Amino acid sequence: MNAVSWDSHSEELLRVKNLSVRYRGTPKDIHAVGGISFSISKSEVFSLVGESGCGKSTTAHAIARLLDEKKTTLGGQVFFDGCDLLALPWSEMTSYRGSRIGMIFQNPLDSLNPLWTAGYQIGEAIRCDGIDSSAALSMTEGLLGEVMIPDPARRTSSYPHELSGGMRQRVMIAMMISRRPSLLIADEPTTALDVTIQSQILDLIRELRRTHQTSILLITHDFGIVADMADRVGVMYAGKLMEVGDVEAIFESPLHPYTQKLMKALPNMPKGERRLEVIQGSVPDMSAPIEGCAFRERCEEAFGRCEKWEGRMIEMGARHLVSCALFSGDGEP
Ligand SMILES: Nc1ncnc2c1ncn2[C@@H]1O[C@H](COP(=O)(O)OP(=O)(O)OP(=O)(O)O)[C@@H](O)[C@H]1O
Ligand SMILES: [Mg+2]
Repeated sequence: MNAVSWDSHSEELLRVKNLSVRYRGTPKDIHAVGGISFSISKSEVFSLVGESGCGKSTTAHAIARLLDEKKTTLGGQVFFDGCDLLALPWSEMTSYRGSRIGMIFQNPLDSLNPLWTAGYQIGEAIRCDGIDSSAALSMTEGLLGEVMIPDPARRTSSYPHELSGGMRQRVMIAMMISRRPSLLIADEPTTALDVTIQSQILDLIRELRRTHQTSILLITHDFGIVADMADRVGVMYAGKLMEVGDVEAIFESPLHPYTQKLMKALPNMPKGERRLEVIQGSVPDMSAPIEGCAFRERCEEAFGRCEKWEGRMIEMGARHLVSCALFSGDGEP
């Protein structure tokens, strides 16, 4: 058992180091992310899981610098291929977003421009690479075919509102495939879709990873998807990372009492409905920094030390980290 060190890894693509995000508000700020660290290797799928409101989307948006910087206070570092994205001038960030870092969000209508056709938007992504319009059009049709949109030639001239939810999501994926990003951030990419479309979209994401060695930050409430897709999992609670480990370790030998509670609920759920159960009690108020372990009020194993728990990650095995006073080895309780 060792305090974890954040040594660089040769295959590492993304390293989030002590990231914190505070939404400035009146009268109170929301401390949405409270100093989290994790890394994603090339071609790895890292899944962030946790109850609603625990800061998953905020983390994803902070990495891609999509938060309104006038209304948020960011701390820490986000190294992408060795470069700290949070320290980059705004103008340079645009050369990363879209091309090297792709994003798919739960509601593609938020990301697609309602005034432009699907074909124009995919074509625009392709034309960024200096490809001429007629070649871009035929590539666009090819991409729509690749994401299994029927009648691609006709669909290039459809506006987002003329497409079904699943089709819009596939248009977003077509845009991502065209850019071949090194990192894909997928925040609840299939939540609003029916099961058949869901599995097609997950197949497309897998394919992107297989063909382009894309690393994926996958945010989902669905543990079935985590089990199918993820290599490693980060369990978030109230803006903190409670546990990080290989998917097998998280499912089969979870260490943190919070992760254990999440996992206990799973076997009783029918397959296909393995969504994150809400645990008794509620997530703490995030309008002030949380002192001690954020989960202690809901934790059956809490003891005195938890009130002062400083949130460090403890290495418990190969690539298995936990932030819990039970494992601190300092003689208590
Ligand atoms: N734009 C915003 N302004 C102020 N507070 C926000 C904003 N967006 C999110 N929050 C707050 O930040 C906290 C984290 O929210 P976030 O959306 O990151 O959670 P999440 O884990 O993605 O939840 P879900 O699973 O429901 O999508 C919550 O308390 C939320 O209310
Ligand atoms: Mg979210």
